[in-house]
Amino acid sequence: MLNINFEGAYKFLTKEEISKAKEDAKKAYKVLKDKSGPGNDFIGWFDYPISYDKEELERIKAAAQTIQRTSEVLVVIGIGGSYLGARAVIEALTPYFENSGLEIIFAGNSISSTYLTKLRYYLGDKDFSVNVISKSGTTTEPAIAFRFLYSLLKKKYFKDELREHIFFTTDSTKGALRQIGIENDFEMFTIPSDMGGRYSVFSAVGLLPIAAMGFDIDSLLKGAKTAYNNFKNKEDNEAFEYALVRNALLRKGYDIEILESFEPCLSYISEWWKQLFGESEGKEGKGIYPSSVIFTTDLHSLGQYIQDGRRNLFETCINIVNPVSDIDIPFDKDNLDSLNYIAGKSIDYVNKAAMNATMEAHIEGGVPQIRINIDELDEINIGYLLYFFMVSCGISGYTLGVNPFNQEGVEAYKKNMFIALGKPGYTK
Ligand code: PA5
Repeated sequence: MLNINFEGAYKFLTKEEISKAKEDAKKAYKVLKDKSGPGNDFIGWFDYPISYDKEELERIKAAAQTIQRTSEVLVVIGIGGSYLGARAVIEALTPYFENSGLEIIFAGNSISSTYLTKLRYYLGDKDFSVNVISKSGTTTEPAIAFRFLYSLLKKKYFKDELREHIFFTTDSTKGALRQIGIENDFEMFTIPSDMGGRYSVFSAVGLLPIAAMGFDIDSLLKGAKTAYNNFKNKEDNEAFEYALVRNALLRKGYDIEILESFEPCLSYISEWWKQLFGESEGKEGKGIYPSSVIFTTDLHSLGQYIQDGRRNLFETCINIVNPVSDIDIPFDKDNLDSLNYIAGKSIDYVNKAAMNATMEAHIEGGVPQIRINIDELDEINIGYLLYFFMVSCGISGYTLGVNPFNQEGVEAYKKNMFIALGKPGYTK
């Protein structure tokens, strides 16, 4: 499962700083569990690993099979919390260079004209399905993408067949998408009203695309449920400790956190994590700025800054203890590249040596460090990890003194854009 080492962070904190942060995080944790803080109508995700809708889970599995049967491509339309969780899990679990049959493409997460034009062209004669995910049902980026792909689907399929290619995931009670879905009798899945996008990966938002790509959603939920039970039974759990350590570091001026990994397929776990923490904590002039790197790739770019730049950074490194596959470095009799000193050692052995060396150098360079060790990359462990981050983010946001479940700052660009585009109801 998960084993987290905070030693590299505690080195940079005094006993008093830790105990003050612990006291505050305790209060924050209580507020989260009691659902007594701001945004308390958006904490449905907290019990979700045990309270999820079992009937809907079966419908999700059936829809995933329909998509696999009818389609070569699944286009998942959504932005922010409406696509990052699914993408994070799918990219973490999909073997490099293996074509599993169904291809997944994400759309509606930008307003790139080139992307949409090329996507329409790429989909051309292919059989494809669309899963449109939007809680509000009114977000501009996915709405534009759906308009385009819907017109393509309507030319390709008719009536019942069309209904086999369109799946909506939206709010359980309201929203424009819901209305379109009802009018056209499309299959609909729900985002519970008391759950925001970035906390929704264990609902149909994440589960339908993940199941369609052939991954085991029961195990994903099982991982989340194990984390839920562990945290429930132990007050001083790792989610609580991560929240308190982050806040203690922030109070000392470490206001940038870098999520690191030595495995490229985790890059979307980092994107999901950045959205979770950035949108939950960055408000009222407060918060830790979440950033990410993939090593060793970025040791040859941002590594310089991390080692030697401004000392306001701390790092959280995800270490996959057992890689999915490994291979030994071959011996070469000519040894022109001078690599024979590691011939016979496995690539993962070298990767781990790079990781340990980097972590040691960063500590010496003044970078506090948290290490998350995960046995192996599978559905159970990923479910555990994501739920761990979500609980920790709730505690951390309340420790900071913000509402971790709203995102009013996102409205500022939308308002300006709507005025510029002349959307009815929007004026300067
Ligand atoms: O986490 C959030 O709540 C947001 O990032 C939303 O997921 C994002 O803005 C998309 O919203 P919607 O699902 O309403 O289209």
